[in-house]
Amino acid sequence: MAGATKSALWDIRPLPDLRGVQCQGRPIEDEGGSMPGTIELRTDRLLLRRHVMEDAAPLHEGFGLDEAMFEYSGWNPYATLEMAEGTVAEYIASYADPRAYAWAVEHDGRLVGTVGAYDYDAEKSTIEIGMSIEKASWGQGFATEALAAVLRYLVEDEQIAAVIAWCAADNVGSRRALEKAGMVLTQVEKDALVIGDATFDKLDFEYRANEQKRRSGRQTVLVNPQ
Ligand SMILES: CC(C)(COP(=O)(O)OP(=O)(O)OC[C@H]1O[C@@H](n2cnc3c(N)ncnc32)[C@H](O)[C@@H]1OP(=O)(O)O)[C@@H](O)C(=O)NCCC(=O)NCCS
Repeated sequence: MAGATKSALWDIRPLPDLRGVQCQGRPIEDEGGSMPGTIELRTDRLLLRRHVMEDAAPLHEGFGLDEAMFEYSGWNPYATLEMAEGTVAEYIASYADPRAYAWAVEHDGRLVGTVGAYDYDAEKSTIEIGMSIEKASWGQGFATEALAAVLRYLVEDEQIAAVIAWCAADNVGSRRALEKAGMVLTQVEKDALVIGDATFDKLDFEYRANEQKRRSGRQTVLVNPQ
């Protein structure tokens, strides 16, 4: 609908306490330093790992061909197999920068999603986060579980002061996952997102570490550190 303005849905429900969520991390290669970047993270049900080129086909098929995956971003980096290959190649190249993060999310050995953190601002010590879960796996808590592990890793282990995120107000799944993972709504920007023919309010979120915990250093258990 041309020029449609969609308004926020303000359902207020109690959020579960995820402070006890545990994950184990394994540094990749021999980095071993204090900023190992995209390491493997394990949660109860998920493996978060670095991308490999073989991810391109499932990302194209499960994400790039499904309009629901980019309804609220207008951005489809997996639209063709060639684009998916280019995007995965960029993810892999980004591992050279320890402040760029790109995880493939696996459940039962299958790629079900992605989590990325990018645009690190060294001065402010902030980074932006984004995630996607294939439609067939929506509503099982995967985004919440993956996000909770990544947020904790970024602020407690990687010592980044604040992780920021945004979503369209109508993207209820995204908003709920961000909130349930512990992010706090900081701002509503009226009609700030124009995606195709639709205009949405933009919701800004932030996750800050408990300063004491952040200063106490690494929380993730490193398995077999070299
Ligand atoms: C947003 C997204 C990552 C959520 O993934 P998910 O694994 O389904 O999220 P979770 O299962 O952790 O769900 C979190 C909450 O949102 C709810 N939810 C999920 N999808 C929903 C939807 N389409 N409509 C309404 N509620 C939804 C879940 O029920 C859950 O809430 P509850 O526990 O109160 O019931 C997924 O829908 C997606 O990839 N969308 C396309 C890409 C995108 O928009 N990414 C976000 C950009 S900011």
